[in-house]
Amino acid sequence: MLTFKCSSLVSLVFATISLAAGPLPNQIKNLVTFGDSYTDVVNTGDGGTAWPVYAARDGKFNLFPFARSGATCSNNITNRPFPSVFESQLPLFFSEKANGTLRSLKASDTIFTLWIGTNDVGANALLTGNGINGATIVDTVSCAINWIKTLYRSGARNFLFQNMIPLQKVILYSATSYPNRFWTGPRNTTEWSVGMTELTQSGNEIAKLMLQALPRSLPGAHIGLFDSHALFTEMLAHPQLFLNGTAPLNITGAVRSCVFPEGADTSNNSLASCTIATGTDVDSFLWFDELHPSEQADRVVAREVAAAIHRQSSKFTTWFS
Ligand SMILES: *[C@@H]1O[C@H](CO)[C@@H](O)[C@H](O)[C@H]1NC(C)=O
Ligand SMILES: *[C@@H]1O[C@H](CO)[C@@H](O)[C@H](O)[C@H]1NC(C)=O
Ligand SMILES: *[C@@H]1O[C@H](CO)[C@@H](O)[C@H](O)[C@H]1NC(C)=O
Ligand SMILES: *[C@@H]1O[C@H](CO)[C@@H](O)[C@H](O)[C@H]1NC(C)=O
Ligand SMILES: *[C@@H]1O[C@H](CO)[C@@H](O)[C@H](O)[C@H]1NC(C)=O
Ligand SMILES: *[C@@H]1O[C@H](CO)[C@@H](O)[C@H](O)[C@H]1NC(C)=O
Repeated sequence: MLTFKCSSLVSLVFATISLAAGPLPNQIKNLVTFGDSYTDVVNTGDGGTAWPVYAARDGKFNLFPFARSGATCSNNITNRPFPSVFESQLPLFFSEKANGTLRSLKASDTIFTLWIGTNDVGANALLTGNGINGATIVDTVSCAINWIKTLYRSGARNFLFQNMIPLQKVILYSATSYPNRFWTGPRNTTEWSVGMTELTQSGNEIAKLMLQALPRSLPGAHIGLFDSHALFTEMLAHPQLFLNGTAPLNITGAVRSCVFPEGADTSNNSLASCTIATGTDVDSFLWFDELHPSEQADRVVAREVAAAIHRQSSKFTTWFS
């Protein structure tokens, strides 16, 4: 009897907490996206329409896209000549906010998303020992968490943090890789795939622990984790539930697969030998090229992100506050 009372009290408390976590269904009207080529709506990585455009359609959001291809979280940590979140995307957001371009964004009906990490942990960055001043995965993930704190200080209240996919499954980082437009130099593909598995798994775990600890210092915020890693793991395990093109389903190759000679100049496309899928065949592929998810994979990401924000699905999302 006592046990029964206790557990119903516990479940009542939990019910109250879970009700308060996350935005309410249909609360969010505006989607503000940050990140890299996985999220860039102009230089799209998927050869078609990027996921934020589909998410805006699916969730009926106004879209404010700030993600830029090639980006890392900060060029102070991994120096790549691309518009990073901290040195480029956030400054642009703040200047547009200051001069009235983004006047219509109300904190309560606006959500901010960040999908970053692919370039931070990748070739020419952490994987190849190019972190600045000995930077590690702890620094790149702390930087991504700092994106939430920085926007919170400016008044933002709703956040969805998208973690890294299992990058050892993209062709560039797989053990069975070939020289491609992202890397033709000498390397040990087994070591790259092992290293990438370590970086994505540990980076995602660090992010989760840091996100769990955030709500205490950011009162009134809704903070969610969108588990891209789990979603892509699911697509790899059950492609028939997600891919729908007219070619045989393909989770190892790419819509545009281009093999370069070892050591070749990656900027010279005429050196590459390409196999390119077209028409309705493209929706059979999980990957667009050696690094990016396909448009069909992005339609799935969009659908799941929109469903998470409107609280129609909790399959890939945890709200910590
Ligand atoms: C990057 O370095 C500059 C110069 O040291 C500093 O002002 C800035 O705050 C740093 N940015 C981040 C995100 O750490
Ligand atoms: C506001 O700032 C952005 C970014 O610097 C700029 O592109 C835009 O032209 C500015 N708009 C106005 C009205 O000043
Ligand atoms: C590549 O790395 C793996 C794991 O360290 C090692 O077993 C293998 O011998 C290496 N291959 C070559 C060609 O060096
Ligand atoms: C696959 O499904 C998406 C919706 O997720 C649809 O937009 C697309 O046209 C479909 N592709 C094919 C080849 O039927
Ligand atoms: C997958 O696509 C690649 C091209 O990237 C092709 O070489 C391979 O044969 C395809 N696999 C299947 C199972 O169709
Ligand atoms: C690209 O490669 C082709 C074939 O080897 C060569 O003829 C051409 O000069 C190269 N272009 C540049 C810009 O290096």
